[in-house]
Amino acid sequence: MAAPTPSPSPAAGERRVPRKGRLRQREKVQIPEDVGPIATRRLSKRYGDLVAVDNLDLDVRAGEIFGLLGQNGAGKTTTILMLLGLTEPSAGVARVVGFDPTRRPLEVKRRVGYLPDNVGFYDGMTGRENLRYTARLNGITGPSAEARIEAVLEQVGMTDRADTRVDTYSRGMLQRLGIADALVKDPSVLILDEPTTAIDPIGVIEILDMLRTLVHERGLAILLSSHLLAQVQSVCDRVGIFAAGKLIGVGTVPELAAQFGEERGHIEVGFEGVDRSQYRATTKTLRSIAGVSDVHEPARAGEPFVLMTTERDDTSAVREAVLAAAAAKGLRLSSIREVVPSLDDIYRRALHAKGLAVTRGAAA
Ligand SMILES: Nc1ncnc2c1ncn2[C@@H]1O[C@H](COP(=O)(O)OP(=O)(O)O)[C@@H](O)[C@H]1O
Ligand SMILES: [Mg+2]
Repeated sequence: MAAPTPSPSPAAGERRVPRKGRLRQREKVQIPEDVGPIATRRLSKRYGDLVAVDNLDLDVRAGEIFGLLGQNGAGKTTTILMLLGLTEPSAGVARVVGFDPTRRPLEVKRRVGYLPDNVGFYDGMTGRENLRYTARLNGITGPSAEARIEAVLEQVGMTDRADTRVDTYSRGMLQRLGIADALVKDPSVLILDEPTTAIDPIGVIEILDMLRTLVHERGLAILLSSHLLAQVQSVCDRVGIFAAGKLIGVGTVPELAAQFGEERGHIEVGFEGVDRSQYRATTKTLRSIAGVSDVHEPARAGEPFVLMTTERDDTSAVREAVLAAAAAKGLRLSSIREVVPSLDDIYRRALHAKGLAVTRGAAA
């Protein structure tokens, strides 16, 4: 990201401060130049006694989808509002596409597409007219605007309904139009606050596929917030587990699993034509394999055996040994796969490890 570094003179900085002392406090924390498109250091927001965001250090890299995962009230929306310069931090700093959003909100807004959690449009206008309006606000007009609008409508699958009034749209359609709206200005960063909450399951898959494509084709960075674990797991390259205003774990799902998940790896092994009378012998064979610490027999016929491995990270040697052992014993293998722990498990363990409660509606 070679975005220019904002360097207003101290005097210019002072003049922008609405309340005395606030900016000076924020300036104590520095952000290095070479951070990714979104970075925060010790970013905090207090509402009276409530700490909504607590010393947040966040880094989103170019070309990744980063999922901010947390239950309601975790502080996701507050964080996003600070990243966009829509609310002022109580302490700490943010740098978004090279700018401090508190000081240079317009520079940030020009380059960042934003889907708010409560997306709103002009009801009496069609989807296309709403997008035109957004395009004009961003200085895009004429044929280039029309082409751009056509392209984003296509991307979100709203071409067919583009010319009907927005007040006839379902919530899912509004959400799609919201993403189109965020894309109109051809941003380098997308920030999506709960982008799939109102969308039916099939629509969600389409939207998530679309976000993936955008990242692949255009190297966009996407920050999305969600309380829907399965969706975050399916689309995000990295996940930040956010609870009570704090980021309590960051990484890929396997990395988070290593940090908060089971100590051991799991491999599922299915055999053809192995019935209950052969379970003990099969278990014995599997347990004799180096690196296998435990074997669970299938609870029902047709289900796989589950092997626990002593090493969590590299189970490939164990899988190869299973293939060899099966061949040696004349067992017909029908399936073998490593089981990745679910984000749901990881999330619960992470909160538990920090002494935090999982509230109702947190996980789906
Ligand atoms: N404008 C506000 N005034 C007072 N408290 C707020 C305000 N906005 C959010 N909060 C509180 O801050 C906490 C974090 O809220 P929010 O950022 O909306 O969480 P999330 O988006 O993760 O659900 C919540 O306890 C919420 O009630
Ligand atoms: Mg929210």
